[in-house]
Amino acid sequence: MDIRFDFSGKKAVVFGGTTGINLAIAEAFATRGAAVAVASRKQANVDAAVEHLRGHGGPVLGFVADVRDMDSVAAVFEAVGSEWGTLDVLVSGAAGNFLAEANDLSSNGFKVVVDIDLNGSFHVMRAGFEHLSPGASVINITAPQAWIPVRYQAHVCAAKAGVDQLTRVLALEWGGKGIRVNAIAPGPISGTEGMARLSPADLDGDAVTSVPLGRFGTKEEIADLAMFLSSSAAAYISGAVIPCDGGGSYEGVRGIEQAGRLLAASRQ
Ligand code: COA
Ligand code: NAP
Repeated sequence: MDIRFDFSGKKAVVFGGTTGINLAIAEAFATRGAAVAVASRKQANVDAAVEHLRGHGGPVLGFVADVRDMDSVAAVFEAVGSEWGTLDVLVSGAAGNFLAEANDLSSNGFKVVVDIDLNGSFHVMRAGFEHLSPGASVINITAPQAWIPVRYQAHVCAAKAGVDQLTRVLALEWGGKGIRVNAIAPGPISGTEGMARLSPADLDGDAVTSVPLGRFGTKEEIADLAMFLSSSAAAYISGAVIPCDGGGSYEGVRGIEQAGRLLAASRQ
């Protein structure tokens, strides 16, 4: 193994790390020797993730926490800190998504996604900072909707745009402590809850044509980027929002809009 990607002795916390892309990121750190803690709302998800991760490497901790609640986020850091001390890697990936036209969103429907994706990321960053080692890598999981306006995604576009700017501002403010803050923007990733919600299986063919590389990505490809960003190979990268999307962002996420149109038609 390239020594730069050996995370033995390092400690990582992944919020929203119990399923999907974030679990793949947690698994990649565990496989490369890191102690890994994951947190999300549902006890069953936490238990399953902890059991899965224990088969892949070193120490694993799991916590039930809702990123909308600053106290529950802070409690995770206190518990991890008392077990392992300071952290080398922090990933904020909890999110919520569904297709809905802005006119069909209630105030709470808009708010719930902003609360999870944006306010939740702030809580994770704000409560996590004092637990970070000098030189730590912080990664927010964003989405191309942050910079591409996509119909049926007003809530997500607004929330993820905020996550991108939060990433950049914290890179400015934390750089002096040697902490790097970056964001990964996955494109359509196979076998995920996000894709199940945004691109039902019968639309996969349409969605694929919107990806220049001609296929969906894999969870492991997102995890590889997280490994790179957290390694010394990325020691001079901070404040970057990096798409990992097969070039698809520039096509305007057409598959999502097509799914939204069908949904709207089915409601008429
Ligand atoms: N269309 C329009 N509004 C919707 C909706 C939809 N498909 N789904 C939920 N909402 C609205 C609800 O009606 C509610 O608003 P109201 O109180 O005015 O009725 C509001 O969103 C909150 O819904 P609720 O189910 O109470 O929220 P929750 O906190 O239990 O769950 C969600 C949060 C809605 C984001 C839920 O989908 C979730 O838990 N997602 C996590 C997994 C996920 O989305 N993964 C993909 C990540 S890309
Ligand atoms: P996922 O499996 O649903 O992952 C979301 C995780 O967040 C789950 O573990 C969920 O667990 C947790 N979570 C949700 N609300 C939470 C809350 N309030 N507090 C704490 N944890 C919460 O979805 P995914 O598709 O892999 O997406 C992962 C990330 O990638 C998200 O940030 C998403 O926006 C981004 N992304 C995905 C795609 C894609 O193609 N899938 C594309 C672009 C961006 P609980 O239910 O147990 O809380």
